[in-house]
Amino acid sequence: MCGIIGYVGNDHALPIVATGLKNLEYRGYDSVGIALNENGIDVFKKSGEIDDLDVPETHPSNCGIGHTRWSTHGKPTDVNAHPHTDEDGEVAVVHNGIIDNYEALRAELDSHTFTSETDTEVVPHLVEEYLADDHDLRSAVEATIARLDGSFAIAVTASGHDGFVVARRDSPLVVGHGDDGAFVASDVTAFLEHTRDVSYLEDGDVAHLTTDGVSVFHDGEGTDRAVQTVEWEAEAAEKGGYDHYMLKEIHEQPQALRQTLSGRLDTVTGDVDLELDLPEQYLSSLQEIQIVACGTSNHAGRYAARLFEQFADVRTTVETASEYEFSGGRDPWRTLVVAVTQSGETADTLSAMRRAASAGARTLAITNMVGSTAARDADHVVYIRAGPEIGVAATKTFAAQVATLTMVSVYLGRQRGTLSGDRASSLLSNLRELPGAVQQVLDDEERTRDVAAEFVDSDAFFFIGRKLGWPVSLEGALKLKEISYIHAEGFAAGELKHGTLALVTDQTPVVAVLTDGAAPRKSLNNVKEVESRDAPVVGVSSLDDTTKYLDVEFTVPELGVLEPLVANVYLQLFAYHIADELGRPIDKPRNLAKSVTVE
Ligand code: M6R
Repeated sequence: MCGIIGYVGNDHALPIVATGLKNLEYRGYDSVGIALNENGIDVFKKSGEIDDLDVPETHPSNCGIGHTRWSTHGKPTDVNAHPHTDEDGEVAVVHNGIIDNYEALRAELDSHTFTSETDTEVVPHLVEEYLADDHDLRSAVEATIARLDGSFAIAVTASGHDGFVVARRDSPLVVGHGDDGAFVASDVTAFLEHTRDVSYLEDGDVAHLTTDGVSVFHDGEGTDRAVQTVEWEAEAAEKGGYDHYMLKEIHEQPQALRQTLSGRLDTVTGDVDLELDLPEQYLSSLQEIQIVACGTSNHAGRYAARLFEQFADVRTTVETASEYEFSGGRDPWRTLVVAVTQSGETADTLSAMRRAASAGARTLAITNMVGSTAARDADHVVYIRAGPEIGVAATKTFAAQVATLTMVSVYLGRQRGTLSGDRASSLLSNLRELPGAVQQVLDDEERTRDVAAEFVDSDAFFFIGRKLGWPVSLEGALKLKEISYIHAEGFAAGELKHGTLALVTDQTPVVAVLTDGAAPRKSLNNVKEVESRDAPVVGVSSLDDTTKYLDVEFTVPELGVLEPLVANVYLQLFAYHIADELGRPIDKPRNLAKSVTVE
């Protein structure tokens, strides 16, 4: 997804902006550009990668904005790349998001010449108009954004004006306060090596960054946004010796899970401390939980739904966020809508949250990103604390989401009086053992690499599992297809025979989740079904008598309802090594972006 970086200060802007763009590469992009403001504006932009950008060795400017673009309006061409300028090249703009009314604005600006197909290009032309009308840069930007419908984070610099002005609506922007200058970015990873003191802009904020510092305005009035310290080390966002971020993040799971659980469990009383303060009366009268999420987060939600029903005795549905409507005669006051989103910026999930909130339902965000839109929009928030995830394929954040949601299920069960202290204690003990169990799987990586090499030429893969094994089979298939480009599908094990069994051959391995919490004995019948069609079967099992049914067996340590989550780590490694064998660009799969901020 698009990324923004900007710098103004005592140092030369070009190397800072260029490095910032490199740091944002993980978000996915297809074109890139930089504008430097020094007695006039120089723009360098291009479709392709940052390293292809033709920039001078040095440039005297101390003010620059940069952008990585992921195309939405107009193809990934040089002309469509950001920054966009007005006709005279006096105003330069970078933009994340979508301007819904750009066609109407273009029609209105009929005396201006447009060169790109983008929605963004209306912005520099509008700013140009307001500057010509004696506005200063900030008020020109304020007047411009008042004309825009849609979502945006923008940075605008103009010849003869100090620094640059940024503004946001429904798209994140974070300001960095360094000793030698000020930064702005769509996420902190862009400038973390320069400063960890940041403030998150709110929707409707406009900020002017100059060599003198940062001034923030809301509705035209000066305001302050608290400065927070980012605890993540810059090196935590680097590959740390692994070939890919994805592999590093798979291996970080034990540590990430420890962070997720830290200080939150009381295994003696069976209570959890999530700093979650849902009113007692609301909880006891709760009729339904709706989980809204996309992709991997949706699979984590499906895992959680079963735990919510089992431990908190409350009907729970899982909605694909892009399809969500608050409907069906529900009582909004007795419905809790839980948005699960790693980034906290997924447009489909945010939109579902807003629909729920406007119907009157209470919302809870489960997210990794402090200061994200989901975290700020929701009535309540619980952070999964997984640390930065750079690989497009979600791995450690899935584990941290499921662990966090398991704690939420305990919280709900305890508050509603549906979960005994003993049962809760035993669940929390399992959670405590989770990092160690995941480590055991990671220690078996060598074998997953060998098995992956054996199956790398397969036509397709089917993943099957029941109960908690079903979301894990969906997740295993998603991981494999997104990074290896081999067709893979996940199924409720009992569903395969209702159609897809016709596709099963000796060239389509079947991966079966056969652990506690996944009704493994029943799934063994389905294993036999596919075996009799000659399909090789890879079993991820915690049963001690499954070897004879399986061509390959991976063993999961005993951990009750968390066993399918541990099994998932085998599926991650399996997907990774198949993709690696095939030489795929694992951290940046084609057509995909880490954070999908358009609907
Ligand atoms: O940031 P979110 O969790 O809201 O992202 C939702 C999906 O785009 C995401 O989980 C996606 O499916 C994964 N990156 C795939 O590995």
